[in-house]
Amino acid sequence: MAQSPGPGADAGLPANPLSAANPAIRGALPLGGAALVGCGSAVPATSLSNADLSERVDTSDDWIRSRTGIGARRVAGPGETITSLAAQAAFAALDHAGWEPQQVDLILLATSSPDDLFGTAPRVQAAIGASRAVAFDLTAACSGFLFSLITAAQYLRNGSFQRVLVIGADQLSRWLDWDDRRTCVLFGDGAGAVAMQACPASEDGLLAFRMRSDGSRNACLTLAQTDAQRPLVGSTSAQVGGFAPIHMNGQEVYKFAVREVPAVLAELLQSTGVEAASLDWLLLHQANQRILDAVADRFAVPHERVLSNLAHYGNTSAATIPLMLDEAVRDGRIQPGHLIASSGFGAGLSWGGALLRWRGPGGIPDSAGA
Ligand code: UT7
Repeated sequence: MAQSPGPGADAGLPANPLSAANPAIRGALPLGGAALVGCGSAVPATSLSNADLSERVDTSDDWIRSRTGIGARRVAGPGETITSLAAQAAFAALDHAGWEPQQVDLILLATSSPDDLFGTAPRVQAAIGASRAVAFDLTAACSGFLFSLITAAQYLRNGSFQRVLVIGADQLSRWLDWDDRRTCVLFGDGAGAVAMQACPASEDGLLAFRMRSDGSRNACLTLAQTDAQRPLVGSTSAQVGGFAPIHMNGQEVYKFAVREVPAVLAELLQSTGVEAASLDWLLLHQANQRILDAVADRFAVPHERVLSNLAHYGNTSAATIPLMLDEAVRDGRIQPGHLIASSGFGAGLSWGGALLRWRGPGGIPDSAGA
């Protein structure tokens, strides 16, 4: 049988060296591919504008817009939780992909603000009726969705699972100091989900990826356990569970982002031989419009190909990438076959990148990746 062309062959791109379509890998392991076949998102009903915030802290619409591009953010109200937002996003992704909840094998929930520190993914599993699925959380702050998507792809490629829901959801409004103008204006709540399905290696939707961590710079951005102690008996005490609000050295994180994100994307392009001019979209973690613009300029990607919804939602942490993806798929900007360069970055410090091909719903028979 003739060798399948590598992903990207349709666009005249070279085969992805990390793909199972690479014969060197294919001989060793029964690898398939992972396709992005559906998406969904959910945000809380309440929107808080910059003007609203300036009633609480010493800030202004002009400062926030000019420094960040943010105009408003959503804040979860009573009854809105990580579970409810993630479940709503998951239902939308299931519907888009044309899946029944019972078909889902794995739910991977990227979040740093869980409803339950033991894990919120099982609550989402119950809420959507995906009783066959194993469900667990993955925490990597604003890189969490990208790390989860890459993780999910490994299970799909190696044949462990056929259908995975990858969800990014955060409710950082829980963990903000609402009197700290340096952080409270930046973040918002939301959730996004992507349905990923095993597919033939030649149709792999994850063309290449990189994942990075640097714990030596952890102090730049934290949501850390406090060290309060509760006396028990005698000289024995136990730590009291609880977290200090988000603390960020904004300038350090900004410098980190504009250095590391272009570097990781450049590696991806170089390793695959993809030209920046071939990218349909730049889909970066939505932290600051100035970061998006700096990365776009570094690769001479026209600004109209840089996806941004910062003006409406601010930084929703693990949710930004799937929330933005869903918006652009639903309004028709992202089309089946489009090539997307994505990067997540944030606390950890953690960062990573992926070259993705959006597939959209339909056309993959069961066991296609096996
Ligand atoms: O998702 C995780 C990744 N996070 C990021 O990527 C965030 C990266 N960092 C940034 O986006 C930017 O550093 C910020 C938007 C957080 C801050 O922008 P900046 O241009 O770096 O401002 P700055 O921290 O240098 O502060 C400049 C001034 C300061 O006043 P002084 O000391 O010069 O008098 C701040 O106190 O702006 C002041 N300031 C504000 N003023 C009005 C800080 N926050 C505000 C505010 N409103 N909300």
